[in-house]
Amino acid sequence: MTFLFQEWSELVLRWFHVIAGIAWIGSSFYFIALDLSLKQNKNLPDKAHGEAWQVHGGGFYHLVKYLVAPSKLPSELTWFKWEAYATWVSGFALLALIYYAGAELYMIDIVKYDLEKYEAVIISLLGIIFGWLIYDFICRISLKTNVYVLICSIFILITVMSWVYSQIFSYRGAFMQIGTVLGTIMVANVLMIIIPGQKKVVSSLLANDTPNPIHGAIAKQRSLHNNYLTLPVIFIMISNHYPLIYATEYSWLIISIILIIGALIRHFFNIKHTGAKPPYWVCFPIIILASLIFYISDLGKPQLPKIKNTASLIEKIPENTLLNAKEIIISKCSMCHAREPAWDNMKNAPKLVNLETTADIINNIESIHKQSVLSYAMPPGNISFLEDNERSLINQLYLSIHNLKNN
Ligand code: HEC
Repeated sequence: MTFLFQEWSELVLRWFHVIAGIAWIGSSFYFIALDLSLKQNKNLPDKAHGEAWQVHGGGFYHLVKYLVAPSKLPSELTWFKWEAYATWVSGFALLALIYYAGAELYMIDIVKYDLEKYEAVIISLLGIIFGWLIYDFICRISLKTNVYVLICSIFILITVMSWVYSQIFSYRGAFMQIGTVLGTIMVANVLMIIIPGQKKVVSSLLANDTPNPIHGAIAKQRSLHNNYLTLPVIFIMISNHYPLIYATEYSWLIISIILIIGALIRHFFNIKHTGAKPPYWVCFPIIILASLIFYISDLGKPQLPKIKNTASLIEKIPENTLLNAKEIIISKCSMCHAREPAWDNMKNAPKLVNLETTADIINNIESIHKQSVLSYAMPPGNISFLEDNERSLINQLYLSIHNLKNN
């Protein structure tokens, strides 16, 4: 029953989180495209900055943007903020339910740091809070300086944070931590900067004052950052089923490369939305960077020592290859991956992947290989100390099964 409840609550929360995220990012993409497509026109009303015509859902829309604000406030205004807040709240609930509650499986790596659960949670929360504070500080001091200096500082901040967390947390924990830090920065930009600025503009209008254009300029800077961070954050959030991305030694560097790739893709669309010729050149750096990721992910995987007496991969799986691998898997994996797991409070094998019998192992060999030979994803946080030479023995079994299948 508890297993069922846990599975369902996770899924329902995730469902909600994804929907809120789609609503938020969808409206954000829409407004960016709209903003960039605005055209000047002499006949526009007073204080209007540009207009756009759009067709959708059986009708035509005529949109006019006022900058800083119209001379008179309309009686009804639609605000866009709940999408962002709902995304963060549901995301944080998921983080707490999965990563904090299961910190020993999802965040802690006792080889790196033997943290208590509560310590891991505190370290994560500190990163989320300070990530925002430092980012906000950099933005404030550099509002008037060169935008490239600002972008580089933010890039360095994120890279340093992901390196630091990759030294403290398990691979998976570190990856999700950075996703959370970036997601929090984006939502805090809405909550602490963009919406309060707009509220000030509205209250000046209500008081018949001229609103200060600085609020608009700051909001624009922060929305631009959100725009460029969107794709990398989504990438990190969906990558946890891809151990080769998040669980190799240089995964922290992969995050930085994804930041650049995501920004290049957004840049392409930003230019395209203005109606100018899209910058097709972005394909080249994207291809180079993506190849670099393959290389880095391969470079950082477990280094398997060569094993002497390699049994020849002939007609059937050599008996000792099977026995060696089975013994390792039984001793290092099946405390969790069993029909009745010995692991505290675990009622079923995670993802119902049982690794107890020879048949279990052979049936699951592909994912065993991905999780524990091509990456360090399993055992989580190397909790049962799977050695590289043991990974190598598992690899041998994989190779011989593969060879048999191919013949
Ligand atoms: C301490 C408990 C524990 C140990 C030990 C452990 N695992 Fe896991 N395993 C997990 C958890 C938790 C998950 C679910 C991860 C998730 O939610 O994506 C998992 C998931 C998996 C999956 C499914 C991954 C997927 O997303 O489909 C495989 C395959 C796997 N483990 C293999 C192994 C192998 C091989 C070992 C031993 C080398 C091992 N595990 C050791 C806890 C453990």
